[in-house]
This record gives sequence, structure tokens and C-alpha cells, in this order.
Amino acid sequence: MVKSLLFLSLLPAVLAAPFEPRQLDGPKGIDVSNFQGSDINWSSVAANGISFVFIKATEGTTFLDPDFSVNYEGATNAGLIRGGYHFAHPDSSSGADQANYFLAHGGELLPIATSAVL
Ligand SMILES: *[C@@H]1O[C@H](CO)[C@@H](O)[C@H](O)[C@H]1NC(C)=O
Repeated sequence: MVKSLLFLSLLPAVLAAPFEPRQLDGPKGIDVSNFQGSDINWSSVAANGISFVFIKATEGTTFLDPDFSVNYEGATNAGLIRGGYHFAHPDSSSGADQANYFLAHGGELLPIATSAVL
């Protein structure tokens, strides 16, 4: 009860506070998938302060993102730190099945990533 009253008494002050977006320091990243299309200008992404990217590789156990390879290569060529991600569908199959599907289709480092690191 005391907590509720305290919350209620602070509420008007919180609501009246001006909204100021917080400027975050540190590395900035994005995530992309086929929804962004296959013609992302990766030089422009890098030039705009983005240093890392998560790229959609798989979904469930049946969907391969058709733009994963082109996105991965583009991000690599632009010097971005990158990795693949899996969009899970826990209702359609087991976590192990989906993890294996992801590992088989982009969840591991590709040769291009290895050569870029070396
Ligand atoms: C990509 O972006 C770079 C840097 O912003 C720009 O110079 C270049 O023309 C763009 N390329 C294309 C194909 O739009």
C-alpha cells in the first residue's frame, strides 16, 4: 500500500518530465534480414557509425533467409563485425532441432569471416 501511494505521488512528476532521448556511447549495431532487401549499402552503413550487425540466417527448421549470404558478404567487405541470428519458433520444433538447423545454415563462422580475421 505504501509503495502504491509512493508510486502514485511520483507519477505526475514522471509524466511531466520532458522526454530526452539518451545518447548512448559505445559501439552501435543493427540487425537485418530479407525484410531490408538485398541491396543494403554497407559502405553507407559503416560510414554512419554502425560497427556491428546481426544478420538473420534461419527461422524455425525450414526457412533460410535468402539474403543472408549477400548481407554477410556486404557487411564483411565493409569491415563490420557481424554474426548470424536465428528466429526461433518454439511451437514448431525442439530447440535442439532449431539450433542444429541454424548451425548448418549460417550459425558457424564462414570461410570469409575466418580469412577476414586472419
Ligand atoms: C553507398 O554509399 C556510399 C557512401 O555513403 C556512396 O558513396 C555510394 O555512392 C553508395 N552506393 C550506392 C550504390 O548507392
